[in-house]
Amino acid sequence: MQPPSSPTSAIEQLLERFESDAAAISNAAAIDELHARYLGRKRGELTAIFQGLRELEPEARKAVGNAANLARQRLGARIDELRESLTQASSDSRVEGIDVTLPGLPDPLGGQHPISQTLAEIEDVFVALGYEIVDGPEVETDWYNFEALNFPADHPARDDQDTLRLHRSYGDLLLRTHTSPVQIRTMEQREPPLAILVPGRVFRRDTPDATHSPMFVQCEGLVVDVDITLADLKGTLDHFAKRLFGPATDTRFRPGYFPFTEPSAEVDATCPACKGEGCRVCRGSGWVELLGCGMVHPALFENVGYDPDRWQGFAFGMGIDRIAAVRHGIDDIRLLYDNDLRFLKQFAT
Ligand code: PHE
Repeated sequence: MQPPSSPTSAIEQLLERFESDAAAISNAAAIDELHARYLGRKRGELTAIFQGLRELEPEARKAVGNAANLARQRLGARIDELRESLTQASSDSRVEGIDVTLPGLPDPLGGQHPISQTLAEIEDVFVALGYEIVDGPEVETDWYNFEALNFPADHPARDDQDTLRLHRSYGDLLLRTHTSPVQIRTMEQREPPLAILVPGRVFRRDTPDATHSPMFVQCEGLVVDVDITLADLKGTLDHFAKRLFGPATDTRFRPGYFPFTEPSAEVDATCPACKGEGCRVCRGSGWVELLGCGMVHPALFENVGYDPDRWQGFAFGMGIDRIAAVRHGIDDIRLLYDNDLRFLKQFAT
């Protein structure tokens, strides 16, 4: 018997360790690793024993050399066996040409587009206030898109420069330039009181640039009831801005002009990117444009058969792409419409 620390008993121990390592093997990479650990040229344990031979006395060198050679044959044969049984196992589990041992194909989950995310949040704010979500057609008549909304005949927005019209053969139709026609359609069909929110795509004959797209998404709001005042409009929109951009958000109302509201206003909110300090997103002003709004013009009530002495209302309309861009610090809205997955992936939740 050799003392336990002798090189030959070290070889016996190595063989035992090898067997217990081999028992845990489940794939080809693990076999390669096992080979490297014991027989590898650089870090193989048995290789190290061979390298140590030259330091031994001739007699011991012979004994250890023999044992090491036997061990090398044994390990080599065992590794071949392991490889063989692994190949066998994988061909056993190959069912009619399908290799069930292959890793599965990735099944990527889609994410919500940043415009849809922003719109969903806006809808939540107004639904919580009791608004009902309504939609309307994207192809409209001149009446709903302009006339009933009190646009004067010579209003520049009616110009073919801005409006995309369908070919004459389809009749006198156009692609709606805003979601406001749904105000008229809804009022025609219902009696007040009403509070509606109208998200939808709109179209304008614009050349795409960093802030314009020929198709974009708007969201319209309309409330009609008794005793509705400008204070209701201001309170509602201030609440909305705070819910959307955070409680520290302020709003400011600037006079504006829309044919279908009187008075009309443009509303700005504290820039959510810099909290009003002034930054790239708000071009240093600390404010971002949020929406257009106003008190419903009595001419609209007349056009839909509501009594303008009895009912008052307010309306507002906003561009969802602009709001999404501001929230995410995106400086070119075309990115929102290009649908490049490398861009959109950043917003997947
Ligand atoms: N329709 C207007 C626009 O497209 C926005 C708006 C809606 C303004 C409702 C006032 C009231 O610019």
